[in-house]
Amino acid sequence: MAYSTLRVDRLDRGVVWVDIDNPPANAISDALVDDLDALLLELEGDKSARVIVLASAHPKNFVAGADLKMMTQNASKYAGQGGAIRDAASRMQRVFDRVAKFPRPVIAAIHGHALGGGCELALACDFRIMSGGTIGLTEVSLGLIPGAGGTQRMTALLGRAKATELIFFAKRLTKEEAETIGLVTKAVEPDRLREEVLAFAESLSERAVFAMGLAKQAIDAAIPLEGGLRVEAENFERTFSTGEPLEGIAAFLQKRPAKFLKDTAAKA
Ligand code: COA
Repeated sequence: MAYSTLRVDRLDRGVVWVDIDNPPANAISDALVDDLDALLLELEGDKSARVIVLASAHPKNFVAGADLKMMTQNASKYAGQGGAIRDAASRMQRVFDRVAKFPRPVIAAIHGHALGGGCELALACDFRIMSGGTIGLTEVSLGLIPGAGGTQRMTALLGRAKATELIFFAKRLTKEEAETIGLVTKAVEPDRLREEVLAFAESLSERAVFAMGLAKQAIDAAIPLEGGLRVEAENFERTFSTGEPLEGIAAFLQKRPAKFLKDTAAKA
């Protein structure tokens, strides 16, 4: 099947290399969410697809997060329709959950910025190998919260204290910083990313990948996410009633620092 935002390459030894290709910024549009969903459905049933690599065709970004231009349009389109923004977040959560629950290993090959939803997508993978750019849950800098599983998966991976610090301050970490705290599995040199990821993927593929899928299910059972994901989607929508995304997203698009304090003071 052909996808408008994904390039799929079937390599040797059951490795499927997927480049996300959604110009201009490699942001997460509805089309990308739909394509990812359809591809994962296709690969779930294809046992020859033993290890999946999610990578990017963009020169600088792995994935730049939710499409903020589309979000601005949708926010006014959905204004007054309670639940519509929550439902859009839930849809993204479900597709990223499909990545997380994929019954064989999934690796994120991160050569550039993995921010907001890009970090959430990477967090849904089993492994993250990073060679450049920055990684982080940047939503709070925009007046939003992570809405595609980030609050749950970052907390499960790093613990509450580190996740709270990274989320509140919308930290963008280098590959070395991310490797030190365990957010990425391995930091590698930019010209070695493909080689390193392929070697890692092939080494997984030579092993019992179906057992890995079953182990993953059992590991995931230790921390059920459903309740947290529901609150996350509801609160993602609730950010819009604080007025903060209006300032945060406008400031980003106008390439200026956001002034949340001024807004809060004006309302008080
Ligand atoms: N949604 C929509 N458009 C985006 C985008 C996003 N998430 N991220 C970047 N873009 C657009 C920019 O608005 C800009 O458009 P313009 O050329 O019309 O001005 C273009 O992509 C290039 O971005 P720019 O910031 O100029 O490039 P950069 O190389 O200096 O920085 C990033 C790249 C990804 C580091 C930076 O754009 C960024 O921080 N993006 C936001 C990431 C984020 O916080 N995402 C979370 C969303 S919830």
